[in-house]
Amino acid sequence: MKLFKKVLIGLMVFTSLQAAGQSSDPAKMKGFIDVLMKKMTLDEKLGQLNLPGAGDIVTGQASNSDIGKKIREGKVGGLFNIKSVAKIKAVQKVAVEESRLKIPMIFGMDVIHGYQTTFPIPLGMSCIWDMNLVEKAARIAAQEASADGICWTFSPMVDISRDPRWGRISEGNGEDAFLGSRIAEAMVKGYQGNDLSKNNTIMACVKHYAMYGAAEGGRDYNTTDMSRIRMYNEYLPPYKAAVDAGAGSIMASFNEVDGIPASANKFLMTDVLRTQWGFKGFVVTDYTGINEMIDHGMGDLQKVSSLALNAGVDMDMVGEGFLTTLQKSLTEKKVTLQQIDVACRLVLEAKYKLGLFENPYKYCDEQRSKTEIFTPANRKAARAIAAESFVLLKNNNNLLPIKKTGTIALIGPLADAKENMSGTWSVATDMSTPVSVLQGLKNALGSNANVLYAKGSNLDADSLLEEHATMFGKTLHRDKRSNEVILKEALDVAAQSDVIVAALGESAEMSGEAASRSDISIPKIQQELMEALLKTGKPVVLVLFTGRPLTLKWENDHVPAILNVWFSGTEAGDAIADVLFGDINPSGKLSTTFPQNVGQIPLYYNHKNTGRPLPEGKWFQKFRSNYLDVSNDPLYPFGYGLSYTNFSYSVISLSSNIIKGNQTIKATVTLTNTGTVSGKEVVQLYTRQLVGTTTHPVKELKGFQKIELKAGESKIVTFNISAQDLKFYNSDLKYVSEPGNFKLFIGGNSRDVKDAAFKLVL
Ligand code: BGC
Repeated sequence: MKLFKKVLIGLMVFTSLQAAGQSSDPAKMKGFIDVLMKKMTLDEKLGQLNLPGAGDIVTGQASNSDIGKKIREGKVGGLFNIKSVAKIKAVQKVAVEESRLKIPMIFGMDVIHGYQTTFPIPLGMSCIWDMNLVEKAARIAAQEASADGICWTFSPMVDISRDPRWGRISEGNGEDAFLGSRIAEAMVKGYQGNDLSKNNTIMACVKHYAMYGAAEGGRDYNTTDMSRIRMYNEYLPPYKAAVDAGAGSIMASFNEVDGIPASANKFLMTDVLRTQWGFKGFVVTDYTGINEMIDHGMGDLQKVSSLALNAGVDMDMVGEGFLTTLQKSLTEKKVTLQQIDVACRLVLEAKYKLGLFENPYKYCDEQRSKTEIFTPANRKAARAIAAESFVLLKNNNNLLPIKKTGTIALIGPLADAKENMSGTWSVATDMSTPVSVLQGLKNALGSNANVLYAKGSNLDADSLLEEHATMFGKTLHRDKRSNEVILKEALDVAAQSDVIVAALGESAEMSGEAASRSDISIPKIQQELMEALLKTGKPVVLVLFTGRPLTLKWENDHVPAILNVWFSGTEAGDAIADVLFGDINPSGKLSTTFPQNVGQIPLYYNHKNTGRPLPEGKWFQKFRSNYLDVSNDPLYPFGYGLSYTNFSYSVISLSSNIIKGNQTIKATVTLTNTGTVSGKEVVQLYTRQLVGTTTHPVKELKGFQKIELKAGESKIVTFNISAQDLKFYNSDLKYVSEPGNFKLFIGGNSRDVKDAAFKLVL
């Protein structure tokens, strides 16, 4: 029966198109698309470039809906963010049964950090430093999404950002291009596997190209402006890494670059992406990215649409500028038919590679959607991965882990907040499923210990701010009682406890898109709650929820233990309990610097030295590059994170202190777990080029390895270094390595390192 159905579908599509069948053979693909495109009218070609909003599709009425009408007319290339096999099948049916050429649609979604089983937000994932786990999370996301009709994800988001005021820093991998590039590769691999035509792999869409994370002042959608040399060395590498890993599509960013919005930026979309990097996939705009160029001041809709096509954009998300104006622009010779053909071909190729011409319903298997989503195995993996993302920021006198005995007071607005556990961009999360901290503690403790819960405070005293910060079903169930009454209840609970666990910080929607903050501290009402809890004299552990680095100077000075748990997904509560009780030893390391205050931003480890560096160990010195009122130090540096055990590093030994030509040298340290429990350490390798034709950062990450050691165990950790690793873009934007003296550093974070010296001789 199944076979018969497949054959029937195949016939329906193939007979009219004389399809050559899905194949990874480029010649066959070309032949197939040549035949198809010969049959296409201009309108049908423009239809392929159109990615409208899905509207509210009701399964039984898909054909009669507004979108159904457009699909039937061949005016829709794909749809996004529709959830369920039934709905996707219904609209796909209109495309392949009722439109003239029966071209299947592509279905996208923001599967950003998991589908229904969610993993930590990307910033949290980037603190894991284990690329197998990053790939595994993306693989599970692809498996689940593809089982529910989705074949294209708007991920990975690889925008480097050094500004924690920017809400979307939560969606990326932090401040470092090397780490960001490794994560970009792992995610593309996880989503696409090694065969995009399989029914459990999905196409990646690298975003937001480019430099979106450098928005001025951290204000979302704001202007970006930087030198080419900085772009090439510090911001572009992760996009390139994703392209090199074979990402099938790329999304233009909202911001301008060099005075031209990315969606009309020929330098980005053609010169860099196509000519320099050889990208073969298609470019989609971001949501109404073309239309927004009207407000950027680039012209009317016809003008900006033609600019986008001319720049090298292929698909128009939501705004329908391509659909409604390109025909006129063609008549007026503002664009060419060849440009439209190229864009149309790239979109059709993506569909071909996904196997949609062979079977437009190949991702619409009800059985799979019932059995492969939110499975116990996926949830188990998500729980383990969540725990790996936590960063232990402080742990005085080994307050953590806590014992599974006595009475634990769990207090705070994030303590019983399952709707907030998944974090921003959890489009497919069923909000009733995530495990809250309260539930996680109860699950872990059973009848061995008592958990008493009180909210303690709302997220913020300002109800309007809380409303803005709890959108998309991510409610915190605002408590309408007075602040005093809510606090008193918590202090009564605290009084009965042996230890207080305070779950405080941001709500899920305080970071993410259009969630920039000028003050990145914990909201005042929660700080007051923390002060009151500390005054009880009981031991207090802060379980910190956040989608960005926060300013935590006061907390760091006063709270004995701080565990940063980001937003770690559907299994958050159980994973938090695993770490709080020591069943899992935390091993996350920061991928972004935590500043002492907002005035230090941008603060990042790989800064330049300047001509007037502050001597090491100093706070302030006149006529040096520093501030009068705060030291140059971060609160927590890049790469930082504690463990329940301790690690010691031996001095570095080099196989040679000269790298000649193509030779490789080895840098070796002995890592020892000097504590009493087993644990994982991220051993980090940095270099510094001391002299060059351009200036260089004081440290640059060049390698890392996550090593697990039992208590007392030692391991020799080796890194290979060659001239290739020391390459950079010089002021002619040539990718070169230069001979000269270098320093090399190895350590457990970017600050506390051992060093050695070597020379590169070319
Ligand atoms: C975001 C993208 C997202 C798109 C589609 C936009 O607002 O900037 O990251 O992929 O919407 O949902």
